[in-house]
Amino acid sequence: MKKPDNCVIIIFGASGDLTKRKLIPAIFELFKRNNLPEKFAVLGTASSALSEQEFRESMKAAILINDSIADINKINEFTEKLNYFPMDFKEPEAYSLLSSKIKSLSGTCGENCNYIFYLATIPSLFAEISVNLGKSGLNKSKNGYCRIIVEKPFGYDLKSAIELNNIMHNVFEENQIYRIDHYLGKETVQNILATRFANGIFEPIWNRNYVHHVEVTSAENFGIENRGGYYETSGALRDMVQSHLLRLVTLIAMEPPSSFEPDAIRNELQKVLQSLRRLHPDEIGTNVIRGQYIASTIGGKNIKGYREEKGVAADSRTETYTAIKFFIDNWRWGGVPFYIRTGKQLPTRVTEAVIHFRKTPHYLFKESQNMSDNQLILRIQPDEGILLKFGMKEPGAGFKIHNVNMDFHYSDISNVYIPEAYERLIYDCMIGDTTLFLRADAVEEAWKFVEPIQKAWTDDHNVKIYGYPAGTWGPDVADDLISGGEHITWRYPCKNLADDGVYCEL
Ligand code: BG6
Repeated sequence: MKKPDNCVIIIFGASGDLTKRKLIPAIFELFKRNNLPEKFAVLGTASSALSEQEFRESMKAAILINDSIADINKINEFTEKLNYFPMDFKEPEAYSLLSSKIKSLSGTCGENCNYIFYLATIPSLFAEISVNLGKSGLNKSKNGYCRIIVEKPFGYDLKSAIELNNIMHNVFEENQIYRIDHYLGKETVQNILATRFANGIFEPIWNRNYVHHVEVTSAENFGIENRGGYYETSGALRDMVQSHLLRLVTLIAMEPPSSFEPDAIRNELQKVLQSLRRLHPDEIGTNVIRGQYIASTIGGKNIKGYREEKGVAADSRTETYTAIKFFIDNWRWGGVPFYIRTGKQLPTRVTEAVIHFRKTPHYLFKESQNMSDNQLILRIQPDEGILLKFGMKEPGAGFKIHNVNMDFHYSDISNVYIPEAYERLIYDCMIGDTTLFLRADAVEEAWKFVEPIQKAWTDDHNVKIYGYPAGTWGPDVADDLISGGEHITWRYPCKNLADDGVYCEL
């Protein structure tokens, strides 16, 4: 791998959860694998009055939680590179002190230092921090690059996303801004591109003539953990659909790019977003299902309902589950329904896309009319892999057809290290590769798709929110959404947990 140029990474929100759980472990992993620049430093900043030593200790603990067998000497060597600077992000004067601190660290990375600012704070601070960075001249580096990574959610709705883009564009050039969606950093998500465009066999049938419908699921078997405050302002639509699920849909639906250059790919992704048919207000009640988990018992253990979680209003109408049916109005996908669903407290954690192919035009094997359709399952996580389902003759008399699987698991490729999403994305930012980051127009276009849903849910109190017991696959009405009178069901990789234990299948 190419060695990145020397740099200082400045993390805003360094005492937060994301820094501990994802960012520092990812930067450590890059360090361990010798993929960081020759000279580098990390500067954490937050309002907490921590000493540098306390910060290092807490990051050391975070690394060990993530990688319990990591070499302690290596961790110590790494944490030596970590620095801390307490500051109030809303205080413009604090930025000149920050600037001095960064300059003092620039020595560690030599002449011509490069800077990456990572905004891992609450989203409401993104604009203010950017403006203050600009005012203090930290938006450019004299002899090197200066880049800014912005976490999701980028905006709260279309209007706020446009505003944030405008504010950031007043301070930074578009090519300095790296809007992150960590799903794009996942190896298996990138592999959707390779599956489609490195093979001759899929593309000819990857269209309305052969595909009956497409299903994308991102399920989680835990609740909102300690994020009640954030989640109440977000809900599954903003938290997962506007970002991660639409990313998967665009990669599945895009046209082949003219080259593998970042903008060639991003142009094609953008065209898909532009072709998403906006839902009419009258369709929201039927084409979008909104659910919220309610208390249940799993294996004798009581699971709280969403409204009982810390930081959640007792009468909250925030969705922890959503399923949507929609269409992509273009030549490739005209008339093919796309179904997406995501939820918290479902029976298992799985993210996958299923391409359902059309059935044969005529059934020769009368005994097997209820056979399922051919499915290509792109398993994003866990047990990363690809599975093809098709029918084979059962051995013996007659012609009974049996569903079989042809499956590939990433774990079968020996010695292949699968980097964590954040590891890949931070590395890409260091080498200046924007392919896996979102352009301003992509973020805005994604908000345009969810906007009618947000509006209907806010304005029309007749749009229902359905309760579903924690540990089940969400509201039953989501089954009606997909069945479309054709007895189609969602793919259920596990049974409802709240029923009779778990049973999983890839
Ligand atoms: C985050 C959401 O962006 O993605 C979380 O805010 C969600 O609510 C998480 O749990 C899912 O990411 P992953 O990589 O665990 O699928």
